[in-house]
Amino acid sequence: MKKQPLFIAFSTQKGGVGKSTFTVLLASYLHYRNGLNVAVMDCDYPQCSVYDMRKREIRQLETNLHYQSKAIALFESLGKQTYPIVCAKPEEGIMKAREFLVGESVGYDVVFFDLPGTINNDGVISTFMLMDYVFVPMAPSRMSMESTLSFIIPVSELLAEHEDFNLKAIHLFWNRVDGRIKKEWLEHYEDIIRQFGLPLMQTVIPQSVRYDKEQSIEGSDAVFLSTIFPADKNLLKGSNLDLLVDEILDIIRLYNDLCG
Ligand SMILES: Nc1ncnc2c1ncn2[C@@H]1O[C@H](COP(=O)(O)OP(=O)(O)O)[C@@H](O)[C@H]1O
Ligand SMILES: [Mg+2]
Repeated sequence: MKKQPLFIAFSTQKGGVGKSTFTVLLASYLHYRNGLNVAVMDCDYPQCSVYDMRKREIRQLETNLHYQSKAIALFESLGKQTYPIVCAKPEEGIMKAREFLVGESVGYDVVFFDLPGTINNDGVISTFMLMDYVFVPMAPSRMSMESTLSFIIPVSELLAEHEDFNLKAIHLFWNRVDGRIKKEWLEHYEDIIRQFGLPLMQTVIPQSVRYDKEQSIEGSDAVFLSTIFPADKNLLKGSNLDLLVDEILDIIRLYNDLCG
């Protein structure tokens, strides 16, 4: 029998804090660098920005021979191709994922769900609750904090009341932390998070232009954010993405499960 993959989402109701970015970065890191089998359900319907990104990148590969040969070499060395990205309505995400998994001959380790920012209808909430793990990117600003907490606190309470939910844990992490932000501010926010008993991850992701570094139509620049390549090794330095991956793998204990 095929193993059951873990369902993971980067989710929050705040827009522009990195849900889709980290969905792509983690999926590509685990699939192309760590050798896991990954699939992505793009449930931010109808935008489907991750699905669109893949289509855009494939189009670029047709004319950009540099990236094309890089991709061929990568797939040959890995013995596999890109991970599948399925576009679905958020309330149908779980059903579509199950249908997809049944139809596949290979097993998957992780399915990432990119959920929309509006989690205010029952269908989206039930998809959210059927995740195994949710990671919440959070920008260190008052607005972002208020928006994040107003969403996470009721969800955590609901979770505490229902042991039958799939969702094992929700972990928050800082993203887009500008070097100029005062340390006292971060500590102040962290105090508030602790008061509510919410788990905050150690890794802090800096604000950095590389998080926007995609493949281009022409040129041969190193790529950080891509559904076809893992984040470039040199660009990883100082991005803290590698630390985030390690911390997430520790939390989800995927390798322990794989080793039985
Ligand atoms: N750490 C970061 N540094 C700089 N830009 C970032 C960072 N994280 C995300 N971004 C950028 O922020 C924008 C919004 O991110 P996105 O993942 O689309 O947000 P969401 O899906 O939560 O709405 C993107 O252009 C992305 O590249
Ligand atoms: Mg998004």
